[in-house]
Amino acid sequence: MSSPRRLDQLLAALGYGSRRDAQALVKAGRVRLSGVPASRADLRVQPAEVTVDGQPLEAPDGLLVLLHKPLGLTCSHNPAEGDLIYDLLPPRWLQRSPALTSVGRLDKDTSGLLLLTDRGDWVHRWTSPRTHLPKIYEATLDRDMPADLPALFAAGTLQLRNEPHPCQPAQLEILAPRHARLTLTEGRYHQVRRMFASQGLHVETLHRTHFGHLSLGDLPPGQYRVLPSADAVTSPPL
Ligand code: URA
Repeated sequence: MSSPRRLDQLLAALGYGSRRDAQALVKAGRVRLSGVPASRADLRVQPAEVTVDGQPLEAPDGLLVLLHKPLGLTCSHNPAEGDLIYDLLPPRWLQRSPALTSVGRLDKDTSGLLLLTDRGDWVHRWTSPRTHLPKIYEATLDRDMPADLPALFAAGTLQLRNEPHPCQPAQLEILAPRHARLTLTEGRYHQVRRMFASQGLHVETLHRTHFGHLSLGDLPPGQYRVLPSADAVTSPPL
């Protein structure tokens, strides 16, 4: 069981408005504790006993979301960067504290599986180089791949410009002369595009289908699913 928290602070942290808004919800009788209307907003409560308008609190122990990122949106909270992935999500999620952030990023011109969470320990778990979680991408290229490219990417010797260490071994499958599936266990800046560019190939489209044990399945672009918190920790332990 999690430790008790002040009701108004809990509601504010989960995106139900400011603390003042939370107090108003309580006053209006919309908040119940084990089915009984809450009498005050400063009571210490267990999240599991609280309902708002008859609904249990949303993801009180942390929100984990799988988004099919469409092309053209940026993984940023800064509106100056154009259309943002966060514009796709329910406003209440964007009022949570700690803030909902993406687990790593996909480029504006990359589509596919993106995780978001408000739990820093989950971000760490999914992005730590020590976990070696596989990330699977499909890429189309501007010219045919040389036959020795899979061996080169698998060797663990590919050196990218301005990087102190070579890339970890990566698995490349040539699905068609200009269509590849690439499995990485690390996440460097623009890594897929830079790996191909190092061999004179330009990535024309890039799409991530898997991250760890999670896959996009048939989730349409722009749609998302809330994942059970068990999914945050079923990746290999650190
Ligand atoms: N590698 C890239 O080059 N871009 C991405 O968005 C993800 C991986």
